[in-house]
Amino acid sequence: MPSASVVAASSLGVVTLEECLKTRRSRREFCWDPLSDDELLRLCWAGQGITGPGGLRTAPSAGGVHPLELYVVSATAILHYEADADRLAGMARGDHRPALCTAAESQDVIGLAAATIVLVAVQGRMDPRYGARSRRYELMESGHVAQNILLAATAMGICATPVGALDDGAVRDVLDLPPSHTPVYLVALGHSSDRRRMSVSG
Ligand SMILES: Cc1cc2nc3c(=O)[nH]c(=O)nc-3n(C[C@H](O)[C@H](O)[C@H](O)COP(=O)(O)O)c2cc1C
Repeated sequence: MPSASVVAASSLGVVTLEECLKTRRSRREFCWDPLSDDELLRLCWAGQGITGPGGLRTAPSAGGVHPLELYVVSATAILHYEADADRLAGMARGDHRPALCTAAESQDVIGLAAATIVLVAVQGRMDPRYGARSRRYELMESGHVAQNILLAATAMGICATPVGALDDGAVRDVLDLPPSHTPVYLVALGHSSDRRRMSVSG
C-alpha cells in the first residue's frame, strides 16, 4: 500500500498563475512513469486541500458544505484523499485502471493515465440546506475542483485531461462506494515523455 504519510503541499512550482492559465491544455500523451505519492497528494490538495478556518478549502463550496470527495486510481492502489489530515489513505490494492477505463467508455486517456483522480459527490451533505438545487451545486463545484487540479498539474509539468464521459454506477463499483456516493468527473494524469510517448487522440 502506498505511504499514507502526510506530505506538505507547500509548493506546486514556480510558474505564475498567468502562465498556467496560458499553457493549460488537455494532454493525453503519457509515458509509463508513475506519479509519486507526493505528486498525487499535491494534486489532491490543490483540489480539496483545507486552507482556512472551519475547513474552508482551495475550492469554493456553496455554504462551505464541501460535498465532494477525491479518490485516486493508480497502477498500484485506490486511495482516498483525507482532507482533514492532508493525506492519501489506501482503500484497495491492485491496478484498477482497466476497470475504470471500461467505466469511462473505454477511453484510452483513462486506460493510459498513470493515475486518475475521481471526483465523487456525497449525497446528503448538500440536501438539508439546498434541497433540489444540491445536484446542480455538486456539479458546479466539481468544475472548480477539477480546474484547480488541472492548473496545479500544469504548474507541476504533469499532463492532465478532464473526463466527463463516465458511467456513474460502474465507476462507483470500481471504487466500491455506497449508493450515496456519485462519481461526477475524472481527471486523468500522467507524466509526458518524448522518449517513451504513447499518443492517443481524444
Ligand atoms: C465537462 C468536460 C467533459 C470532458 N470530457 C472529456 C472526455 O470524456 N474525454 C476526453 O478525452 N476529454 C474530455 N474533456 C476535455 C475536452 O475534450 C477538452 O477540454 C477540449 O477539447 C478543449 O481542449 P483544452 O482542454 O486543451 O482547452 C472534457 C472537458 C470538459 C470540460
